[in-house]
Amino acid sequence: MQFKTIIEPFRIKMVEPIRQTTREERERLLAEAHYNLFLLKAEDVLIDLLTDSGTGAMSSGQWAGMMLGDESYAGAKSFYKFEAAVRTITHLKHVIPTHQGRAAERILFGSVLNPGDIVPNNTHFDTTRANTEYRGATALDIPIAEAHDPAAILPFKGNIDLEKLERVLVDNPGKVPLAMITVTNNSGGGQPVSMANIRAASAICHRHNVPLFLDCCRFAENAWFIKTREEGYADKTPLEIAQEMFSYVDGATMSAKKDGMANIGGFLALNDDALAQECKNLLILTEGFPTYGGLAGYDLEALAVGLEEVLHEDYLQYRIRSVAYLGDILTANNIPIVQPPGGHAIYIDAKTMLPHIPQSEYPAWALSLALYLEGGIRSVEIGSVMFGHQPDGSEKPAAMELVRLAFPRRVYTQSHVDYLAEVLLYVNSIKDDIRGVKIVESPPMLRHFSAKMTPVHDTLLQS
Ligand SMILES: Cc1ncc(COP(=O)(O)O)c(C=O)c1O
Repeated sequence: MQFKTIIEPFRIKMVEPIRQTTREERERLLAEAHYNLFLLKAEDVLIDLLTDSGTGAMSSGQWAGMMLGDESYAGAKSFYKFEAAVRTITHLKHVIPTHQGRAAERILFGSVLNPGDIVPNNTHFDTTRANTEYRGATALDIPIAEAHDPAAILPFKGNIDLEKLERVLVDNPGKVPLAMITVTNNSGGGQPVSMANIRAASAICHRHNVPLFLDCCRFAENAWFIKTREEGYADKTPLEIAQEMFSYVDGATMSAKKDGMANIGGFLALNDDALAQECKNLLILTEGFPTYGGLAGYDLEALAVGLEEVLHEDYLQYRIRSVAYLGDILTANNIPIVQPPGGHAIYIDAKTMLPHIPQSEYPAWALSLALYLEGGIRSVEIGSVMFGHQPDGSEKPAAMELVRLAFPRRVYTQSHVDYLAEVLLYVNSIKDDIRGVKIVESPPMLRHFSAKMTPVHDTLLQS
């Protein structure tokens, strides 16, 4: 008998209390945090969907592994276990540990990018974009056209536009030191990239002698989508699929705080010997010796186990289904989301949901504040606060105004998701009362992390 309920494939051995706050308290807390959810104290949040990065629960196997951590400065046993785990999946020659993804980006870009260069990507994540621009290079987003239509339902909406990729390479010889593909496409709705797309992008890049790198934070979730959506992969294991994905690229950056199933960690992996040496030299300057790269031996142990666990089929099935479960409820209740649901998050399309708030008044930011105010839920804006500020100081509205509800791995159960759905449905019922916000003060880069905001019309909700 095949039962239809997909359960959490774990039982809970340790619990961490979460705290209810009153609406009145949250109103005050929001004002104290300058209407920026990043500035709240985590203990004042009931369900924290700010990010799936580093917020997951580790398994008993990972905690046990941590006790084996070898804290030797150089040549620690833990490094070799980590290196073997990464090599098993990627078959890439050099594995360079970093404390998180952006350190891998900074080291790679610090070695290969020069002012005036161009880096094409399906969609750059914010730190990837910022690290590219910090080197004076242009971060060029070229997802397929449908990626900008939240309602379009496609199996692989994270794909890179192959024609545009070819054109960029033809038009800019010598100016593209590398191309990237982000799996899954986080800033584009957590949408997967097909194997066919990675294979074709690789062929184009290699025809032009340009190396292709994966931003592979969510490689296992992407592999699951390939298994369940792409012809010819149903009988392959997630590991085999991941190995094929990596077989087409010359290197990868990874924030292992996602599909590494750990609370900290990352890596840069690549085949080019000379470039690897240059990157290791930079690593020593800012992260640490190449066999620990800013991590403790016990972190490397947790990652070695996590990278194996993340490819278990029961885990991936539960993971992708939990996100789709929320997506199904919202869709059934006409709440506009990026379709189809992504791997790690649901993205609410705030531009469609709140048409009365102009993009200059940041509708997605306002919606994320309303979700906290009404239900204690923390989400993140992926819209014009995050992406509207241009390197030349000008403002350009983002292509989409999204509120991302990112699911930490193995943390919340179905009743948390049911509560979440209830809050979202309530906020949808009062959506016409939500008012826009404005920026009071912001830093020159990555402003969403620390900008001070305020409601445009005194209060967030029209009473
Ligand atoms: C696609 C993508 N790339 C890079 C990063 C940066 O990783 P980290 O936060 O570990 O520096 C993230 C983090 O959220 C991400 O989602």
